[in-house]
Amino acid sequence: MIIIENKQALKQLLDTERSKGKSIGFVPTMGALHAGHASLVEQSIKENDITVVSIFVNPTQFNDKNDLANYPRTLEADAKLLETLGAQIAFAPTAEEMYPEPDNRQFEYSPQTDVMEGPRRPGHFNGVCQIVSKLFYAVEPTRAYFGEKDYQQIAVVRRMVEDLQIPVSIVSCPIVREKSGLAMSSRNTHLTEEERELATNIYRILSYSKFYATNHSVEETKRMVTDMLNALSGLEVEYFEIADGITLQSITSWEQTDNIVGCITVYCGKIPIRLIDNIRYK
Ligand code: PAF
Repeated sequence: MIIIENKQALKQLLDTERSKGKSIGFVPTMGALHAGHASLVEQSIKENDITVVSIFVNPTQFNDKNDLANYPRTLEADAKLLETLGAQIAFAPTAEEMYPEPDNRQFEYSPQTDVMEGPRRPGHFNGVCQIVSKLFYAVEPTRAYFGEKDYQQIAVVRRMVEDLQIPVSIVSCPIVREKSGLAMSSRNTHLTEEERELATNIYRILSYSKFYATNHSVEETKRMVTDMLNALSGLEVEYFEIADGITLQSITSWEQTDNIVGCITVYCGKIPIRLIDNIRYK
């Protein structure tokens, strides 16, 4: 596996591969790789001739400076993991390489960006679209792989690809969970053992809500999930929305659509760590 920091060098290498008819799979990441990322890389390796993984902590998608500063950076371990998995290229550019000039483009994909993470993390999806579009232009992948834990991100990226007419197919991959059910996340490293245990209640209660939903309304199901989690000391629900899986707009009845997802954000622990998760109802 080779590590490339420069867009031009990456392009040269990939142009050569493309000219031989090779397909390119791409997994964009911010590093601190875990089993969730590994599953995306494995799927890309299965479905493409060449797999490129980007490792770049994108400053424009953080609306909290501390969050950016504290984001784990583990390039050496990440490169080892990618080597073991069999990825061919790690693209690890500097911020200057990706943003030689400030990116003034504005992306707003209503209604998907209007809800949940959108208003709570102003500028976040704009930053995601800025970097993902730049990465797509640099890699020109055949397919790009995203984890369903960031459900809203996939919906926004799909809108962006359509809007900018980028010829890439977006592949969404199931959430990878720890044995306890906790969704894998780079942020889990900030949890103490006790908090990690506490956080397992998120998936436990979301899973229970699927049964609860069979004989309760959307409103009752939302309330049950929120109340049960908030009753546990050390957990605080920021939001739990039951929404249309495409538009991400809240629904009021289970009959409203065939594609329903419940998206949740919960603060966990003394120095609260923001955890997100989701569950599919249909
Ligand atoms: O999901 C992430 O890790 C990031 O938002 C992404 C897609 C790599 C863009 O920085």
